[in-house]
Amino acid sequence: MKKNTSILLGKNPTTGKNISWIPDLEKNPHLITIGGSGSGKTETLKAIMLELKNQKINSLILDFHNDFKVFADNLVQIDEATLHPLEVQINERPLDVAYKVSKMIANVFSLGEVQEAIVRDAIKQFYHKSGIKNLKEKNDGTIPLLPFRFFKDILYESEIKAPGIHKLIAKISVLFDVDLFMEADSTSVSLDTVIKKLSVIELLEFPTDEVKSLVGDLLLNKLINYLYAKGKTDEYWLYVVIDEAHRMMYPGSPVELLLRESRKYGVGVILASQRPTDFSETILANAGTIVAFQASLDKDAVFLSKQLRVNKEKFQKLNDAGLGYILFSSQDDAERIQILPVGKRKEYKEVAKNFDEEDASEYFLKEQKRIKKEKEKLESLETKYKKSQEMVRELKQDIHGLKGEIERKVYVIELSKKEMKIVEKENIVLSHENDKLTSRLRAKEKEAEKLAKKLKK
Ligand SMILES: Nc1ncnc2c1ncn2[C@@H]1O[C@H](COP(=O)(O)OP(=O)(O)OP(=O)(O)O)[C@@H](O)[C@H]1O
Ligand SMILES: [Mg+2]
Repeated sequence: MKKNTSILLGKNPTTGKNISWIPDLEKNPHLITIGGSGSGKTETLKAIMLELKNQKINSLILDFHNDFKVFADNLVQIDEATLHPLEVQINERPLDVAYKVSKMIANVFSLGEVQEAIVRDAIKQFYHKSGIKNLKEKNDGTIPLLPFRFFKDILYESEIKAPGIHKLIAKISVLFDVDLFMEADSTSVSLDTVIKKLSVIELLEFPTDEVKSLVGDLLLNKLINYLYAKGKTDEYWLYVVIDEAHRMMYPGSPVELLLRESRKYGVGVILASQRPTDFSETILANAGTIVAFQASLDKDAVFLSKQLRVNKEKFQKLNDAGLGYILFSSQDDAERIQILPVGKRKEYKEVAKNFDEEDASEYFLKEQKRIKKEKEKLESLETKYKKSQEMVRELKQDIHGLKGEIERKVYVIELSKKEMKIVEKENIVLSHENDKLTSRLRAKEKEAEKLAKKLKK
């Protein structure tokens, strides 16, 4: 069942007609906004967040600047949790994770190919040291994992072997200052606690932009695996929102994968970025909805002009914040739009007034505790199940042993039955012979009697 979500974005400034985004009408539930600094992207995302909140639609925001906090039902202060960067999700192969995570690290820290390969090898070693023998085997939920802090030692040990490792360590050492990672043992924050109502993931507190982006990448990668496990649906049930998405866009990034795959799993992606070239042409050509604001660079205006089929000068001339062009995949032509900012939406005051940071972050903490308890319960049930399985196995063995014994006894009985039959037969023969002899004896006795009588006479 589809929800028929309708998000009021703003008005056509020429006709005065309202313009709403209805994801179900478009070829996919993704919306991309592009525009120069100060052109109104963040404001547009805020307006969309407000509408999603009003319509009680789940959304997940990666918030780099604390711009979206006020909308949060679930404020995910993620430093209250742990995230193991090398965690292998169910059905993932350790080898694939080694490639993916080394690529993420390489992207955020601008590593070269050789440095990326060193990180990848260190990750592989980490898995071997964790006790994983075959890195190509999918995780069925039982693979072991050392705490992330061991990765630091492994990387530092490769110091002797790999040239240029000092530079690499200098670049990425900030990872080892992040408690979120360093305190991660074998498990990570559960996505069930993160995808709840309107969740804002606070990234501002992390030490550098690189760490913020990496946390974003890791969470999105987790989300993708979560979606694969949850399965396909044609109901759009979650929107993932990323402002300043350029931080996380690179060929093969989790954002790209989400844009390509998430529609089938009922998830829309809402992105904002300053440059159209942050997105590949395929991504833009396939976006369900594009909102483009001012682009002062000629190159950017040309790119947008091609995608939205609007003269490039028009993008260069857009001067007001929130004034732009929107192209829906369901329509042939782009339309001019003036976004209605949150401040002018009647529900905003109410939301801002009612926002209670403590409540919103308390929600996350409570959810974490609840899920942890559930997990523990599940684990104890699993141990019980394993124990009873062991008992069943032992009983089966006992039964097997008893069956053997019974079979042996039956065999012995059958054998003695056969022997008895032989004895019986022999008995019959003997008794026949006995009869014969007795009758012969009788005859002889009679003869003897007769002889005796004759003699007396
Ligand atoms: N639709 C709008 N109506 C009225 N004012 C707006 C609108 N959109 C944005 N503004 C104003 O313009 C300013 C800049 O907007 P915003 O922060 O959304 O820009 P941005 O595109 O996100 O820029 P940056 O790329 O630097 O983050 C905001 O302070 C806001 O008040
Ligand atoms: Mg912005």
